[in-house]
Amino acid sequence: MSTQQKSFSSNLGAIMAAVGSAVGLGNIWRFPYTCGKYGGGAFLIVYLGFVFFLGAVLMMSEFIIGRRAQHTPVKAFQALRPDRKGWGLIGLLGIVTSFFILSQYLVLSGWTTGYVWEAITGSLASLGTSAAPISDYFTQFSTDSWKPALFLAIFSVLVLLVILGGVQKGIENVSKVLMPVLVVLILVLCVRSLTLPGAYKGVEYLFSPDFSKLTGEGILAALGQSLFSLSVGMGVMIVYGSYIPVNDNIFKTAMWITVCDTLIAVLAGLAIFPAVFSCGFDPAGGPGLVFCVLPNVFNSMGSAGIVFSTIFFLLLMVAALTSAISLLEALTATISEHLGTCRVVGAVLFFILSTLFGVIFSLSMGPLSHVKLAGLTLFDSVDRLNSIYLPPLCALGTVVFLGWVMPEHDVHDEFTNHGVLSGRFYGMFRFLARYVVPVALLVVFVSGILM
Ligand code: PHE
Repeated sequence: MSTQQKSFSSNLGAIMAAVGSAVGLGNIWRFPYTCGKYGGGAFLIVYLGFVFFLGAVLMMSEFIIGRRAQHTPVKAFQALRPDRKGWGLIGLLGIVTSFFILSQYLVLSGWTTGYVWEAITGSLASLGTSAAPISDYFTQFSTDSWKPALFLAIFSVLVLLVILGGVQKGIENVSKVLMPVLVVLILVLCVRSLTLPGAYKGVEYLFSPDFSKLTGEGILAALGQSLFSLSVGMGVMIVYGSYIPVNDNIFKTAMWITVCDTLIAVLAGLAIFPAVFSCGFDPAGGPGLVFCVLPNVFNSMGSAGIVFSTIFFLLLMVAALTSAISLLEALTATISEHLGTCRVVGAVLFFILSTLFGVIFSLSMGPLSHVKLAGLTLFDSVDRLNSIYLPPLCALGTVVFLGWVMPEHDVHDEFTNHGVLSGRFYGMFRFLARYVVPVALLVVFVSGILM
């Protein structure tokens, strides 16, 4: 199909699409409150270590596997070691993980889409500045039976439309437009937030290191966050890796993505906390920070509040969109390759399935809250699966495959573009991929299960 070249058109296109995948709710919704909770600057130091020495190495590994094999995850592992086809199971695990992450992601993205609407129509602004009505509103919204499902479906359709556009015309072009928009929106919010009276307290909260709050749980959270934020450990970057042009420098590409992703997370913290402190609200809002505390903050900015709350939720939606696109793309490409069908069939199939699961997870917060698995609601169960079990396990399998199973010649060849690049960092990359990353992942996976 002429409109669906299975490759990004340029290095910039590849970087934009992968940054689009990486920058998402993880950066803007999850990073700020997690960082605040586990000691600000102390968490940030550990997080940076994980991001650059673990996450980036995993991203390079996935890119190498994808580009070398020119296949989607299951077949990629098998093609690189045809005599040990069992490794394809790691690819399968990645795809299963992508599916569950997408279904859960759609729930949060649906809320975000709903909040864009509520911000534009002034419903959020009409709630005033006291805490109770705003958090009651969120509880009502998220536990309602049809409203979250409706917005979830609207968001899913947007994702599907982009995927149907193809790799270059859909994913790459949309990312090239939306990523700069996202940066502008976040900068506008940072300027507003940092120029409010007393803003420095928020900066202090985010950056001054409090090591007493950095518990073992905090270290695990930093690792989980680094995997999630860089979109590694779920096969997505293997699929995107297969679209990276052959002459792109994989090391540099992965570093650019990692730096951009981290900067956006920090900027999100700077857009949120100074405003929260300046308006005198509680920064320890946890997962509800964005939906329950921020509307308060915007409402206390007077009439400009509507503009800023619309900008904020739009930013969150844009970020979520390009991430969800990468998840649906991984699923679409994989199923189309296995069934030998065109992309449309795969895309529509997984659009229907993930929307359906998303709606079920969403209902498990309201009408289906009595349905429990091992004492947890369906949403909490999938959240546990997606944060503790699946991604670290898949990441571990991937890096062990790259370090110990895949022929070294193939790895070196991809890292250096067939000997064209000097491969200055190859030795360090290989050492990290063979020893440091697997051990770190194993420790974290085991302690995650025991906790
Ligand atoms: N990285 C995305 C975020 O930070 C989430 C994501 C995970 C996207 C895995 C794709 C694959 O929100």
